[in-house]
Amino acid sequence: MFLLHLLSLLLICFASYSFLGWIIEVFYRSIKQGRFVNAGFLHGCFVPVYGVSAFSLILLDFYIGNQPVFLQFLFYAVLVSSVEYAVGVFSERVLHARLWDYSGEPFNLYGRVCLPFSIIWGGLGVLLTHIIHPFVWGKILLIASPYEYIAAVLLVLYFVYDFSVSISWTRKLGKSLEEEFERMKSFNYGEFQHLLNKGSHIVNTFESLREKVSGGVYKRLEEKFSKLLEENRKVLQITDPSDIDDVEYLGYVADILAHEEFQKTKLYKHHKKSIFDHALKVSYLSYKISKTVKLNAKDAARAGLLHDFFLYDWRNSDDPGRPVKHLHGFHHPKIALENSMRYFNLSELEKDIIVKHMWPLTPMLPKYRESFLITFLDKYVTLAELKEKSGAPPAAIQ
Ligand SMILES: [Fe+2]
Ligand SMILES: [Fe+2]
Repeated sequence: MFLLHLLSLLLICFASYSFLGWIIEVFYRSIKQGRFVNAGFLHGCFVPVYGVSAFSLILLDFYIGNQPVFLQFLFYAVLVSSVEYAVGVFSERVLHARLWDYSGEPFNLYGRVCLPFSIIWGGLGVLLTHIIHPFVWGKILLIASPYEYIAAVLLVLYFVYDFSVSISWTRKLGKSLEEEFERMKSFNYGEFQHLLNKGSHIVNTFESLREKVSGGVYKRLEEKFSKLLEENRKVLQITDPSDIDDVEYLGYVADILAHEEFQKTKLYKHHKKSIFDHALKVSYLSYKISKTVKLNAKDAARAGLLHDFFLYDWRNSDDPGRPVKHLHGFHHPKIALENSMRYFNLSELEKDIIVKHMWPLTPMLPKYRESFLITFLDKYVTLAELKEKSGAPPAAIQ
C-alpha cells in the first residue's frame, strides 16, 4: 500500500513538472512567434520531457546534493542536455519529425542541444533542487487519501491516451513528408490535407517542422505546375491591366483595379517595381492556373490582387504607421486583410488566401488548396522579380 501511495505521489509530481515545463515552453514559443502557442508535443498542458528531466535532476541531487553549487550546476547542465539529446534522437528516428532545431545557435550538437540552452538547464536544475522541489514535494505530501489515487488513475489514463494519439499522427505526418512526396506523382491534395489537419497542432507549434512541411508542399506544387508555369511565363512580363485581354479575368477584378485606395499601391515600391505591379502578376497567374486545374479562379484572382494591400514602403523606416521592418513579413497579411475588408466584400476563401499567404512564416496552416497555390505563386513571382532585378532570367522556384 505504501508503494502504491508513493507511486501516486511521484506521478502527481511528474505531472506538476510537466505542467511547469508547459508554462515555460508557452512563454518561450509565444514570445518567439508573436502569438499564443500551445507548446509541446501533446494536446494537453504538459511537456513530459520536463517531467523526465526534473526526476533525473532530483535523483542526481541525492548523490551530489552536498557538492559545491557550481559543480551541481555543471552536472545538471550535462544531465538535462543528455535527456534533451536523447528525446531529440527519439523524435527524429521514431516520430520522423524534428520537434526543435538549435542549428542556428552557437556551439550546437546536430541541432539537438546547444551551449546557451545547456547553461539555462544548469541554472534551472539548481533552482529546482534547491527551491522549487522542496516546495512542490511539501505541497504534494499534503494531499489526503484517497485523492492521490484518483488523481494518479486520471493522469495515467490521460497520458496513455494523449501519447498514443499524438505519436500516431506525428509518425504518419513525418512519414508522409519523407516518403509520400517522393512516391506520389500527382498532388493528392485531399489525402495530404486530411493528414495536415490532423497534425495541425504540431505543425503550427514547431517552426522547423512547418518549414519541412511547406518545403514539401512547394516541391510538389512546383512539380505539378512546372509545365503550366512555363506556358504562362509571359504573365511575369505584364506591368499594367491594359496588357491583359482576358475579359473574364478583368470582369472579376474590375472593381478592385479601379478603386481609389487600391490604386495607391502603385505609389509603394515592392521588389522591382510597385505593390500594384507585383499583385497584378500574382493575381493573373493565380487566375490562369486555377482556371486550368478547376479551382476557384474568381477568388484566386481577387485575393491574389489583394494579398499585399498595404500602403507603406516596408523598407523605409521613416514611413509612419508601418510595422517594424523585420516584422513586416509577419504583420502585413493581417494589414492587407483589414484593408481589403474595409473596401470590398470578401469570401471565406479570399480571406484565408490573404491572411495566410506568408505561410510558413506566419504559422497558421492555409485552409484551402487555393490558399496553398497562391502562397506558392506569390513566392514564385517574387523570386522571378528579384532575379529580374539582378539581370538573371526568371526561373522556377528553387
Ligand atoms: Fe506578401
Ligand atoms: Fe506578395
